Amino acid sequence: MENFEFVSPTHFVFGHDAEAQVGTKLAERGATRVLLHYGGKSAQESGLLDRIRESLAQAGVAVVELGGVRPNPEITLVREGVRLCKEHQVDWVLAVGGGSVVDSAKAIAVGAPADVDVWHFYETKEQTDDILPIAVVLTIPAAGSEASKNAVVSNDELGMKTGYANNAQRPKLAFLNPELTFTLPPFQTAAGLTDMFCHLLERFFDDVGAVPVTDNLNLSLMKTIRAEAPRVLADPENYDARANIMWTGMLCHQGLAGVGRHEDWATHGLEHELSAFDTSITHGAGLAVLFPAWMEFVCDANPARFAFYGREVFGLVPTGDVQADALSAIDETRAFFASLGMPVTLTELGLTEETLEEAIDFMLPTLRINKGEPFGSFKPLTMEDAAAIYRMAL
Ligand code: NZQ
Ligand code: ZN
Repeated sequence: MENFEFVSPTHFVFGHDAEAQVGTKLAERGATRVLLHYGGKSAQESGLLDRIRESLAQAGVAVVELGGVRPNPEITLVREGVRLCKEHQVDWVLAVGGGSVVDSAKAIAVGAPADVDVWHFYETKEQTDDILPIAVVLTIPAAGSEASKNAVVSNDELGMKTGYANNAQRPKLAFLNPELTFTLPPFQTAAGLTDMFCHLLERFFDDVGAVPVTDNLNLSLMKTIRAEAPRVLADPENYDARANIMWTGMLCHQGLAGVGRHEDWATHGLEHELSAFDTSITHGAGLAVLFPAWMEFVCDANPARFAFYGREVFGLVPTGDVQADALSAIDETRAFFASLGMPVTLTELGLTEETLEEAIDFMLPTLRINKGEPFGSFKPLTMEDAAAIYRMAL
């Protein structure tokens, strides 16, 4: 087991009506004026925003609002949020939405106390503890940002989508009510399931040997997703299935499922470039296409690890040929994503042989900036390897 540090300061309020406690819990922690940050229209249409406004008003917490976060959130709106926080002396940022809203809120919370433009932190990875506290009302289990140390923000002007990791930006409060996820369209539910499953894959496949305590937790979460995914898709208002998935999504990315391992994260790097190239690509859908391609490309570095994963997660019976067992595990992974309704090729995401070459020319320079070269740990990859994986995914 490798050395590690693990910080998890998030106070969770989970279950029916969790969001009704937003006002009191924030007031108890000294919040006087919050930036209420949200996305397009789902939280407005469901009445969630009105309930939260009411909860804050009853607790005497003043509100400044900023909506309009798009999927794959962009730095321009973050800057507007920073400006509002400075102007109104906001002391907490409250995100109501999914990973995009939470990440935008994290960036605002980092930028608000700073003297420099917020993109500076994304560019340099400079660590700071001077960050506004963040609370989250989660509406889609997927990115795991409700407890993670990461945020990912796009900068359209630079053509980049870049991550920033800092334990001090982990949310202090997270309200998780599975009923809020009943309204998710099947595609968003499936993309979320794919993303959380991939957060486990990124941690499971690296260059460290077995870490049983971490690996068994990780495998148990993979099996939970496999079992619950068909239930939530078949019956979107199944509270227990939604609840299991919501808590699983948090556990997949808060960090415990990877402690003592190096982790890999090459495929997330490849996907973030894809979503930067075409901002209409949903993160989970991009991963569904790229992860099996990455697996095929790197498998020869340690086929036994893939065979083990296939036995544990998909119940594959060993054939005596480890290479064949590893390839079967990859096929099962692709079939699982397809069974959720996810695309399995870049063609399905709208790319052609020609536009993929344009995309590769666009993506590789920023991939090198974001990830360095070589990148990934299961099998360190060059930029040529990255291009080969994109081509395999077509
Ligand atoms: O904008 P609205 O109208 O709210 O619609 C959203 C959005 O269109 C909709 N939605 C959310 N909750 C809903 C709902 N629709 C109906 N009912 C509900 N209850 O879903 C759409 C997608 O929302 P988004 O927040 O983009 O989804 P997700 O949570 O998957 O977040 C994706 C972003 O997180 C990043 C991704 O790269 C991407 O930018 N990630 C963040 C990570 C982190 N901070 O740790 C890790 C991840 O690997 C990931 O990279
Ligand atoms: Zn992800």
